[in-house]
Amino acid sequence: MSDKIIVTGGAGYIGSHTVVELVQAGYEPIIIDNFANAEKSAIHGIQQIVGKEIKLYEGDCNDYSFVRDMLKKEGAIAGIIHFAAYKAVGESVRKPLQYYKNNIGSLLVLLDLMLEFKISKLVFSSSCTVYGQPDELPVTELTPKKPAESPYGNTKQISEEIIEDVVKSPLPIKGIALRYFNPIGAHPSAKIGELPLGVPNNLVPYVTQTASGKLEKITIFGDDYNTIDGTCIRDYIHVVDLARAHVSAIQYLESKNETSLFDLFNVGTGQGNSVLEVIKTFEEVTGLKLNYTIGPRRPGDVEKVYADVSKANRLLHWKTIFTLADALKDAWRWQQTLG
Ligand code: UD1
Repeated sequence: MSDKIIVTGGAGYIGSHTVVELVQAGYEPIIIDNFANAEKSAIHGIQQIVGKEIKLYEGDCNDYSFVRDMLKKEGAIAGIIHFAAYKAVGESVRKPLQYYKNNIGSLLVLLDLMLEFKISKLVFSSSCTVYGQPDELPVTELTPKKPAESPYGNTKQISEEIIEDVVKSPLPIKGIALRYFNPIGAHPSAKIGELPLGVPNNLVPYVTQTASGKLEKITIFGDDYNTIDGTCIRDYIHVVDLARAHVSAIQYLESKNETSLFDLFNVGTGQGNSVLEVIKTFEEVTGLKLNYTIGPRRPGDVEKVYADVSKANRLLHWKTIFTLADALKDAWRWQQTLG
């Protein structure tokens, strides 16, 4: 059986960490990336960690003939992990068509070609954003989805539905959607990590860039929420733990004989932390003082969300090994390599 796993978006933040974990689990990852939101240096970093060359096809997953030529060349493929997608919530509101075309289009290209090349296993990057502000916490996979708040969120919901419909049909495809909570941190080697374009939107890159002096201060978006300290609660997961979940998902699909199987898994830590707790923990582990102020709420933010991860623990035989403190330490170590 082939050990080749196609990783679309494999030079990106979560993709690059997953490529490392795949190699360490004995697979041969093959990266497709168009470097729309990734750097070539990530490939170098991955290769330094694993100590070998990783095959890279530079191009767009929406480009049917490009992906087809690549699959023809590669021969038997064990599965596809599909990360490549646009992911900025605010931008998706301004440029909905780009988001629908890119995020839905690439999935359709891949599904079509999976049939042609008899590739049966797909692991898809979804998001806890599908739950909106849930009525019950922690959220399980059975917690009802809420109407998407943004075109980005909608592409995740629609993609999950497309995969489920394809799997339910007689077509021989098995799929898993992993619903990520908030990935943070970097590889402990500090060879790969997050490389946000421009001013970051997400909390932890904002924190590390403020600590390094690149940004002047961080604004906490609201302290009047109904939470322990008034700031929002999220489930922050170390990116290496998240990457490991993809290897477990591939192994799970390999272990199942059914020709049709669709399953969803929350991938988080199961623990909620407030924005202030993240900042305090960062200060503790680094010994630095962060310059922060309290600002107004950010439109579209949910108050609290954190995962019930018992399904992934039980069926994927996966559980987190890193703490919030580990993740913040690694994020800081990575930031220091960027200056
Ligand atoms: C959201 C989505 C997630 C999506 C991600 C993409 C939800 C629940 N989550 O994550 O699915 O993949 O965007 O970007 O919809 N914060 C500050 N100051 C800052 C930055 C952030 O206080 O400068 C706070 C936010 O208000 C939030 C927390 O930090 O409470 C985390 O924010 P962020 O890192 O942007 O992630 P989410 O919005 O949770």
